[in-house]
Amino acid sequence: MIFGGNLSTQLVNEGQTKLEVPELERFRTRAGDYAPSLTRVFYNPHMEFCRDLSVSAVQALARELGDLCLCDPLAGVGVRGLRYAKEVKGVTRVIVNDRSLEAVKFIRRNIELNELGGVEVHNEDANTLLWRRAPRFHFVDLDPFGSPASFIDAACASLLRRGMLALTATDTAPLSGTHAKACIRRYGAKPLKTEYGRELGVRILIGFCQRAAGKYELAFTPVLAHATRHYFRVYLRGRRRAGATNDVLANQGYVSHCRACGHRSLISVGRMINDLARRNFRLGQQELTLLNLCREETDGPPAFYDMHELSGRMKVSSPKIVELIGKLRKQGYFASRTHFSGTGFRTDAPMGEIIKIFKCA
Ligand SMILES: C[S@@+](CC[C@H](N)C(=O)[O-])C[C@H]1O[C@@H](n2cnc3c(N)ncnc32)[C@H](O)[C@@H]1O
Repeated sequence: MIFGGNLSTQLVNEGQTKLEVPELERFRTRAGDYAPSLTRVFYNPHMEFCRDLSVSAVQALARELGDLCLCDPLAGVGVRGLRYAKEVKGVTRVIVNDRSLEAVKFIRRNIELNELGGVEVHNEDANTLLWRRAPRFHFVDLDPFGSPASFIDAACASLLRRGMLALTATDTAPLSGTHAKACIRRYGAKPLKTEYGRELGVRILIGFCQRAAGKYELAFTPVLAHATRHYFRVYLRGRRRAGATNDVLANQGYVSHCRACGHRSLISVGRMINDLARRNFRLGQQELTLLNLCREETDGPPAFYDMHELSGRMKVSSPKIVELIGKLRKQGYFASRTHFSGTGFRTDAPMGEIIKIFKCA
């Protein structure tokens, strides 16, 4: 099929939504990976997992607020905005935007394919759109190339009182400590290259959004944050109250990490889990596993430990992670796995207690 000049396209299904997208097979790298950045109009099938979770997040928000007005300002072929319009009950108005005219042609075609009403299409700069409409949206989904930093102010200003901001960041290397200077420039925070660098990266991203939101007397509480594949994804629930903003900012802090010994001094995800469990998504099992892990670690302290890193440092073999967690809990400490790493665990036990358990293994 040919669409908009010489661009070959194909039809795909995601959730209950049909989409015409650039032909996937034509944009493979030599290693065989699909490279969406090579296409003139962006669609990445690997992000289906992330988008399924977003559908459930929006549904959970709609159950609470009803009659949602949403904005997908960096839409590509329109997959996020159109999936919300089609698959979420209680969404009344969706604004889908991309500054690329070719992307907008795909969006219009996909609206037709799904026979969707209540979807407005725009072709302009995302910041201009968000500033002009401020404050109008219950949910804004920022899904840019790389960093969302340059869109955060406009998104905060455009959110309604109890709205939610969801964002994706694919500049995970700077956030996780590989290019510290880029992280300082973009997010005003110095990352740490440690075994829990990705966790700190997610925290830096959240902290940056909270500080930006403070200017608009908007207090952001993280509902869900996860690091998956090449991206970080964060859902932040807003409240417009100066006092609440002060409380959020008072909770920001620093991590101090000892390189010698390794010492380092969410709304409930439940509604999303319930919604996701009722849907028949292809990747449903993996999606539920992620959310359950996030829920388990939500109440734990920042900065998780890694079994391999600790056993290498102590020169002993690791206990089984389940046994370790069981022993820590038995002693009254918080202990859980973490979704950031299969060999990671989170605990508030002092290092001395962790060492004792490792040495007895
Ligand atoms: C990563 S892609 C979006 C992917 C899409 N949300 C999805 O799930 O497939 C980013 C999109 O933002 C658009 N874009 C980049 N900068 C923009 C800007 N300043 N204003 C509006 N659109 C922009 C690009 O044309 C591209 O389609």
